[in-house]
Amino acid sequence: MIDLRSDTVTVPNKDMRKAMYDSEVGDDVYGEDPTVNKLQEIASEITGKEDSLLVSSGTMGNLVSLLTLTNRGEEIILGNKCHVYAWEGSGVSIYGGISMKIINNNNDGSFDLNELSDSINPLDDHKPKTSTISIENTHNQCGGSPLTLDFIQSVNSIAKKNNLKIHMDGARLFNASVAQRKSVKDIVENIDSVTFCLSKGLSCPIGSIISGSKPFISEARRWRKSIGGGMRQAGVIAAAGIYALNNMVDRLEEDHVNAKNLAMGLSKIPEIIIDTEYVKTNILRFELADNINLNEFESELKKEGIIFNSSYGSVRMVTHYGIASKDIDKVIEITTKVVKNLS
Ligand SMILES: Cc1ncc(COP(=O)(O)O)c(C=O)c1O
Repeated sequence: MIDLRSDTVTVPNKDMRKAMYDSEVGDDVYGEDPTVNKLQEIASEITGKEDSLLVSSGTMGNLVSLLTLTNRGEEIILGNKCHVYAWEGSGVSIYGGISMKIINNNNDGSFDLNELSDSINPLDDHKPKTSTISIENTHNQCGGSPLTLDFIQSVNSIAKKNNLKIHMDGARLFNASVAQRKSVKDIVENIDSVTFCLSKGLSCPIGSIISGSKPFISEARRWRKSIGGGMRQAGVIAAAGIYALNNMVDRLEEDHVNAKNLAMGLSKIPEIIIDTEYVKTNILRFELADNINLNEFESELKKEGIIFNSSYGSVRMVTHYGIASKDIDKVIEITTKVVKNLS
């Protein structure tokens, strides 16, 4: 199988497994797991934040961060295509009594800044108090686009002017850093809370990190416990995270080159509608011409050993540690054949 469904399908390599096997562990709910503590320190150095916290997943990282930044009855502003709104079961509303105000995401994951400003509620007893802006970097549903530093800076100016906090869902933050040749620290400089996933392109079996100020992380730790996310000998997981941060970041470039080559190859097929300019990291999204049925396309490729995800009528393919450049050539060749047969 050439599995292009997600970078979450990556499996830990031998060295990562060895690091897990050898890890020194303790009870992390007591703060006594040395390997978790070390991972959290490394994450804080990378993000330039005072403190960090290991959580089980990106969804938990976003939930804990937003519950910590935003009080019950307040509102967060976020994009209509972002993961927190579209794919996280409305956890912030269910567990935090927080309302979500949705504004349009542009194709590159940004928002219109006027729309953002206009969506901030005035102080008015009829309306929830706007508290937090949530942004996603890279933007999954917007073709893995990394947010520009200019855009992040503009959001920050609006946030500061209105006394709002900013959360960044950086599930694929290292993809943004590698693609833009900018340090993670620079990208998240003005962000109050950031999450990144260890279990996507970095190929760990489990785990995400939240980083922020010391008081923020201390409160986030309480929220993590209260939603059942306190873990005990989590050093086994943290060891994989430390290995990944030391060894798996630079290679993300390979995934980006593979995604670009795949996009360029597929763009030569007239029935595939793709803007290759937007392919900057490891995700590509495209649509099919009207004469090609998406379900048939999906099942024909599956018969040939190629799987991917589709949503909202578009195809998403993701490159990762388990995909080599020869697989890309194969996908282009087989897709060309399948589209020809279907049209
Ligand atoms: C942008 C983004 N944020 C958050 C998540 C959630 O991560 P997890 O699956 O670890 O909960 C994902 C998962 O694909 C994602 O793409």
